[in-house]
Amino acid sequence: MITALDHIAIAVPDFNAAIERFLNDFGLEYAGTEDVEAAKTSTAFFPLPPTSIELVHPLNGTGPIATYLEKRGGGLHHLCFRTDNIHEDIDRLKGKGYQFLADVPSPGAHGSQVIFIHPKSCGGVLIELSQPADEHNGDAG
Ligand code: CO
Repeated sequence: MITALDHIAIAVPDFNAAIERFLNDFGLEYAGTEDVEAAKTSTAFFPLPPTSIELVHPLNGTGPIATYLEKRGGGLHHLCFRTDNIHEDIDRLKGKGYQFLADVPSPGAHGSQVIFIHPKSCGGVLIELSQPADEHNGDAG
């Protein structure tokens, strides 16, 4: 079940300049960066309860964010819904015809498990489903 808007992600070509903007210009709390190897992405989180802003930047200059920046420059990249049971939501949404970018969830930031719905099956919006670490500790993966 989807329980919250976990975060809104913005793809940024200049990671440090964007961090400076959200930290110093907007004055948001800064929770630090995390490299997500599985997604070839560097992330920076700014908690803004009950949600967060996530800045995403290519890790080592390659991967999906690099492709996005080449095509479109920076901009709004995805919305992330928090779920308390990612497998159940994947099955339910697949049953309704939604296509996913992967067959199974992969590691996300902060120990979460994440998967993306293809924007073509979602009105042009890239949507991430994320199950926080403390809600899948009992899972095998
Ligand atoms: Co995200």
